[in-house]
Amino acid sequence: MLLKSTLKGLKLITKNLNIKEIFLAGKLLREGKLVAFPTETVYGLGARADSDNSIKRIFNVKGRPTFNPLIVHVASIKMAKDIAVFDKQALKLIDNLWPGPITFVVPLKKGHNISKLVTAGLDSVAIRFPKSLIAQQILSSAGVPIAAPSANLSGRISPTSAIEVFEDLDGKINAILDGGSCEVGVESTIIKTDPITLLRPGGISPEDIQRITRTEVFFLNEGASIVAPGQLKSHYAPKASVKLNVHNLEPNEVLLGFGNVENATLNLSPSANLSEAAKNLFYMLRKLDHEVSKDDFKVIAVSPIPKIGIGLAINDRLKRASAPRY
Ligand code: TXA
Ligand code: MG
Repeated sequence: MLLKSTLKGLKLITKNLNIKEIFLAGKLLREGKLVAFPTETVYGLGARADSDNSIKRIFNVKGRPTFNPLIVHVASIKMAKDIAVFDKQALKLIDNLWPGPITFVVPLKKGHNISKLVTAGLDSVAIRFPKSLIAQQILSSAGVPIAAPSANLSGRISPTSAIEVFEDLDGKINAILDGGSCEVGVESTIIKTDPITLLRPGGISPEDIQRITRTEVFFLNEGASIVAPGQLKSHYAPKASVKLNVHNLEPNEVLLGFGNVENATLNLSPSANLSEAAKNLFYMLRKLDHEVSKDDFKVIAVSPIPKIGIGLAINDRLKRASAPRY
């Protein structure tokens, strides 16, 4: 499948990425352009983290509130250490989990060159070294830290395939690289250390973190908005309303199932596998949303999903998808 961007003069592209396309993405990013690319979690919308102008464009294109800071993506641990300071606990976690779907909120280092707009003026920065090889190659090719929020319009469902990026951002950005569907399917876990606090559940579970550090993992209280400005209550919102933990279906509902349930229009994982459910979550929410608006059904009902491992991240996203809209 070849996608075509409507933004004139600039490329957009293709499955089976080759080295030419990776270099092109790196070049566009270096030039300050906006490029969407796959990571193992979701597709990101990348731009130079040291360029005020490029970062301004990210906020504009997404319609994202400027108080919601972005994650800086790096191609190596060294690149991360040039930007920020990592304490012992963070270093131990990095050693075990990077590259991978976990982001660290850490103090900025003196002399860093990250735009103030990336961090929304905070003196901490969120940093991630993704596992996806395509992402790593693009970041290496760019050669500079790249800020990359999920490549969706603000408040809507994150994209896990290039076509979904296209739906939201066609004509507004400079390129979309199609690397197929994302392996993990929900965004990275975000933590801070001292003490270790989970700011956003994601691809790495608190159980994994605890196993490595052997210390307690604290959970961010609802409403502690200063620590994670982006954890807005309504997010990942389909147009239809969403109802959680449903056992019995009402006539105006379509069921997004989990496990061995009857009458599911789509099933996140018939075998009740949480990793499979995470991978399918955003894609199926988008798909049901299209169906619902077509058939005049009103509500997407979702089966209960265990709150363990990556199930915690799935429940977090579903809760935000079902929250009253602002
Ligand atoms: O998996 C991911 O993390 C994806 C891919 C593209 O890497 N990116 C992503 O970015 O999910 P975004 O912008 O959709 O989410 C970034 C989150 C927001 O909730 C934001 O508030 C939080 O990171 N964040 C960024 N900087 C922060 C900081 N200094 N302190 C606390 N939270 C921060
Ligand atoms: Mg996002």
